[in-house]
Amino acid sequence: MAETLPPPAGIDVLEAMYTTRAMRRLKPDPIPAETLRAILDAAIRGPSGGNSQGWAFVAVQDPALKLQLEEVYRPALEALFQPGGPYHKPLNSEDAELAARTRKMADSALHLAHHLHEAPVIIVPCVRTGGRPTDISTGSSIYPAVQNLMIAARAFGIGSTLTTVHRMRQDDVRAALGIPADYETAALIPLGYPRGRWGVAARRPVEEVAFGDRWGEPLP
Ligand SMILES: Cc1cc2nc3c(=O)[nH]c(=O)nc-3n(C[C@H](O)[C@H](O)[C@H](O)COP(=O)(O)O)c2cc1C
Repeated sequence: MAETLPPPAGIDVLEAMYTTRAMRRLKPDPIPAETLRAILDAAIRGPSGGNSQGWAFVAVQDPALKLQLEEVYRPALEALFQPGGPYHKPLNSEDAELAARTRKMADSALHLAHHLHEAPVIIVPCVRTGGRPTDISTGSSIYPAVQNLMIAARAFGIGSTLTTVHRMRQDDVRAALGIPADYETAALIPLGYPRGRWGVAARRPVEEVAFGDRWGEPLP
C-alpha cells in the first residue's frame, strides 16, 4: 500500500491543536464519506507500542444504533452530577466561581447527553487487550490515535468531544455494535459541524506545569 500524504486541509497544525476543544453542540448535517475516511486515515498515523496497531474504530451512523448509544451514555453522564457523583459537590459548592464553572460544564455535557443521537457520526475507538486487565500502557496505544482523529476532524471544521462515561456500561456498547470481548472501548466520540465558534482552549499556564531540568524549577 502506498503511503502518500493527503491534500492539505487548509489549517495550520498549531491552530488545530489550540482550538480542538470539547464541541458538544453539534449540527446534524452529514459528514461526507471521504472526509470521514480522511479523518480515520489520519487517526491511524498515530503511534502504538511496538507499532502493534491493535486498534479498531467503529463509525456509527445508523440512527437506531446512535439512539442505543445515547441510552447507554445519558444516564451515565447524568449520574456524574447527581448526589454521589463526582461533580455533585462542586456543582453545589459555596465557592460561587467553582459552582458557576461546574454549571457551565454540566450544561454543555448534559446538552450532549440529550442530543448524542443527533451527531451525524459517533466514533467508538477500540483497543485490543487480549483479555488482559487494562492499564496506562493500554491507553497509551490508543489515545494518540484518538487525539489525531480529533485534530484531523478540527482541520475539516468538524467538532468532537472525547467522552468515556459509557465505559461504565461498555458491555452494552459491545453488544450493540458487535465489538469482540477482547477489545476495550476507549472512548465514544461524537463528530459533527459545530453550532458554536472555535476558540482557543483555556488551560493552566505552561509555567505552572512544565519544568526545566528538575521538578519545580522554572523553564528557561
Ligand atoms: C479522559 C477524558 C474523558 C472525558 N469524558 C467526557 C465525558 O464522558 N463526557 C463529556 O462530555 N466530556 C468528557 N471529556 C471532555 C472534557 O470534559 C474536556 O476535554 C475538558 O473539560 C476540556 O474541555 P475544553 O477542551 O473544551 O476546554 C473527557 C475528556 C477526557 C480527556
